[in-house]
Amino acid sequence: MTTPTIELKPTSHPLSDAEREAILASPGFGRHFTDNMVTVRWTEGRGWHDAQLVPYAPLSMDPANMTLHYAQTIFEGLKAYRQADGTVATFRPEANAERFQTSARRIAMPEVPVDLFIAACDALVQQDKAWVPSTGEASLYLRPFMIAAEVGLGVKPANEYLFIVIASPAGAYFPGGVKPVSVWLSEEYVRAVKGGTGAAKTGGNYAASLVAQAEAAQHGCDQVVWLDAVEHRWIEEMGGMNLYFVYAQEDGSRKIVTPELTGSLLPGITRDSLLKIARDLGYEAVEGRISTEDWKRDNENGTLLEVFACGTAAVITPVGSVKSARHHWTQGDGEPGEVTMKLRRALLDLQTGQAPDPHGWMHPL
Ligand code: PLP
Ligand code: COI
Repeated sequence: MTTPTIELKPTSHPLSDAEREAILASPGFGRHFTDNMVTVRWTEGRGWHDAQLVPYAPLSMDPANMTLHYAQTIFEGLKAYRQADGTVATFRPEANAERFQTSARRIAMPEVPVDLFIAACDALVQQDKAWVPSTGEASLYLRPFMIAAEVGLGVKPANEYLFIVIASPAGAYFPGGVKPVSVWLSEEYVRAVKGGTGAAKTGGNYAASLVAQAEAAQHGCDQVVWLDAVEHRWIEEMGGMNLYFVYAQEDGSRKIVTPELTGSLLPGITRDSLLKIARDLGYEAVEGRISTEDWKRDNENGTLLEVFACGTAAVITPVGSVKSARHHWTQGDGEPGEVTMKLRRALLDLQTGQAPDPHGWMHPL
C-alpha cells in the first residue's frame, strides 16, 4: 500500500495577525489551536488514504463510534521551535513516529508509516508557521492522535481509523514556570503493570491517572509520582513526565540516574535525549532502579542532590518537595538545582538552534 500525499485545503478564514499575536503573547498550554489540521483515514483492505490539510473544525461523530466506548485511542506530543535564525524546526519527529507505531500495535490499531507521520506534522507546521512563537521558551506543541472511526458496539479492533494532527501554541506547562513542583508518592493507585499499556501512549492511561492526580492535589501536591505496581517500592515516573535523580559522588563528580524502562513506564523522548546530552556535558548518566527509601537517604549512587522531571510539554521541571502517606521532605534546598538548570538550558539551546545539534535531532522545515 502506498503512502498518500497530503492534499492542501487550508482555511480561507485564518485568525487575523492581531488575534493570533494576542494569543501568542500568553498561550498557556493546550488552550488555543491553530487555523488548520491534518486528517488521514485508514480503512481495512485499503490502508491509509484521503490525507488532507483542512481548516481546524469539530469532528462529527456517531454516538456509537467505537472510540467513545472502548477507548481505542493513542496520541503523541512533539514541538516545533523557532530557531535562532528565524526558521522553524521540530525535535526528533521520527522518534515520536516510532513510538506512535509502538502504541498502535499495543492496542491493535494500524501503524502510521513514519514518513506519513512526519509529512503530516510538517504540512501543518508549514501551513501554520506564523503560530510558532518567537519569544522565550514558547513553542508550537503538535498533537498527533488516532481514533477508531467504525460505528458499532462489538468489542473488536475497528475496521476504520482517523489519524489527525492538531497544533497548539505552548508557553509554560506549569503556571509557575520553572518553579519546583511538589510531588505525591501514590501508594493506593498504580499507573501500569508489565504487560499492560504503560509503555504506550494510550488515552486510557491518562484517564486512569486522573484520580491519583486528584489525590495528589488533595494532599497539596502538584503532581503524582507512580511506584511500581508489584512492590509499591520502585520509582517509575510522574504524571506526564519521566524522572531524573542527580547524585554527588565522593570525588565531587555528578551521577545522573533515571528509572530503567521496565515495560510499565513510558519511554520518554526527552528522557532519552537527556541521557545523551548529560553524557555530552561530561556527566555519568545511567538507567537504574531507585526505591522510595533511596529517595530519602544516601545510597550506592552517592548523595542525592537534585530531582527533576522531564517531558515534551513540561521540558525540565525541578522537584522541590516529596510527600507520601507517612513522610514529607524537601528535596535539597527546595530550589532548582545546578545540574537540572544546566541540562534544561542545554536542551532548550539545542531545540532553539542556539547550540550545535551533534545528534542530528532537529528536523528543519
Ligand atoms: N511519561 C508520560 C506518562 C508522558 O505522558 C510523557 C509525555 O509524553 C512522558 C513521560 C515524557 O515523554 P516525552 O519526553 O516523549 O514527551
Ligand atoms: C507530553 O509532554 O507530550 C505529554 O504527553 C504530557 C501531557 C500533556 C499529557
